[in-house]
Amino acid sequence: MKNSRRDFLKLTGLAGLAGGTGLFSWRSDSNKKTFPQPHRQNFNMHEYAAPKLDTVRVGVIGLGNRGSGTVVRLASLEGVEIKGVCDLEPDRVSAAQESLKDFNQSPDGYSGGENEWKKMCERNDIDLIAIATPWHIHVPQSVFSMENEKHVYVELPAANTIEECWQLVETSEQTRMHCMQMSSSCHSGTAAVILNMVRNGILGEILHGEGGYIHDLMNTHNFTKDTYHNMWRLNENIDRNGNLYPQHALVPMCQIMDINCGDKMDYMVSMSTNDFMMGEKAKELAAEDDFWQPYVGRNYRGNMNTTTIRTNKGRTIVVQHDVTTPRPGIRFHMINGTKGTYKARPDRIGFSYYDDWLSEEEKDSLMEKYRPEITKRFNEMISQASSRRQNRSYARVNAMDWRLIDCLRNGLPVEANVYDAATSSSVTPLSEWSVANRSNSVQVPDFTQGAWKSNKRNMDVELTNGGGTTRII
Ligand SMILES: NC(=O)c1ccc[n+]([C@@H]2O[C@H](COP(=O)([O-])OP(=O)(O)OC[C@H]3O[C@@H](n4cnc5c(N)ncnc54)[C@H](O)[C@@H]3O)[C@@H](O)[C@H]2O)c1
Repeated sequence: MKNSRRDFLKLTGLAGLAGGTGLFSWRSDSNKKTFPQPHRQNFNMHEYAAPKLDTVRVGVIGLGNRGSGTVVRLASLEGVEIKGVCDLEPDRVSAAQESLKDFNQSPDGYSGGENEWKKMCERNDIDLIAIATPWHIHVPQSVFSMENEKHVYVELPAANTIEECWQLVETSEQTRMHCMQMSSSCHSGTAAVILNMVRNGILGEILHGEGGYIHDLMNTHNFTKDTYHNMWRLNENIDRNGNLYPQHALVPMCQIMDINCGDKMDYMVSMSTNDFMMGEKAKELAAEDDFWQPYVGRNYRGNMNTTTIRTNKGRTIVVQHDVTTPRPGIRFHMINGTKGTYKARPDRIGFSYYDDWLSEEEKDSLMEKYRPEITKRFNEMISQASSRRQNRSYARVNAMDWRLIDCLRNGLPVEANVYDAATSSSVTPLSEWSVANRSNSVQVPDFTQGAWKSNKRNMDVELTNGGGTTRII
């Protein structure tokens, strides 16, 4: 076996599957590689509408930083009943139960063991499992939930390896359960406006996009003692070198470029700097506190990763990842079309090399004109709910949560499906392979198995469910 292949299989978790089945093809020429495709589509989940649910009964696994908010966000939606909450830590379960009293909901609690979540997932009075646990258990929890006839709403990244991406796709198709990644909000904020402008041809044909997860987590998430979970976030930054968290920027760009429904990712290259900061930080902390000794001398990821993806239609996407350097944050950043360009921070829209960007006023009025109906409806509901209930903060209610619940209640296809979750998650292991191989190009698997050519767009910028819209309560 060639070294490069062995390294790829190891990095992507496919090592155990490489022999004997005849399902994998491997081709390598000087510039491009074809990676294993262990799958034939047996059902297309892209436009699948699951039977309508009057009330969406939810179980939430993982009640830490993110999941403690997830329970409240979901409980804020009409037609949602939180039936169960689960965490390793009993105090997090009781805190979540306490926070739901305000919504007159009293879910059962599950805690105390690594596998308690399974009991909740096996219940037959739950429709949707929301997962906000550390990355390495997202796939086992998602697969088990779908096998137990639950839709899945999983935090990003949905999967860590290519094999895990295929597992999600195969399970979703076999069970006909949705698996949606909680990436970025589709229907609120600037991304929705830009998407609508693109759909209306204002920026012309889109040929390039840029974004990233530039978010300094050095002293907050990465080098903060986490007595509960063995420093899972910091550990993810050891012995993995690539773009570990592309989704926040990538998902809106994929929607704008019709990835998996008209276009698809073809191949990508990735490059990382060395680690200039994390090893030094570990040494500095270990000098004061022995807790940090195991983190000294480790193989930390390069601080800045830059990944470039080319699509089948010849578009390019640049997506960066940096959770260490001190610089202002960046997510969805730039969309470049044949007629015009949008760029963020500050928001700017421009239509010509010779003229300046539009004035603030012109830009605001253009963006207001293209704010989608669905976003306006969502924003209206937030403000009505806030004025009805002065004592609650609705600032964190998420348009993507709302739309997922609304689609499930109205029997509509979900707008980000298992293929989208797998595609954006696959960028991480593929970037690791490319970084480890002097930035060689690597082919992105086609999780739709060719259906991307005929799949229709699954995100509506206009409302499709008329009067039946789920309210924010
Ligand atoms: N979409 C976003 O904007 C966003 C923001 C923050 C975090 N996240 C994602 O949310 C997820 C969780 O991140 P976090 O910051 O909340 O982490 P966290 O460490 O604060 O919380 C994780 C929780 O999972 C629990 N847990 C671990 N193993 C478990 C098991 N076997 N059974 C039950 N519970 C278990 C832990 O006890 C902990 O409470 C990650 O995937 C992260 O990337 C997303």
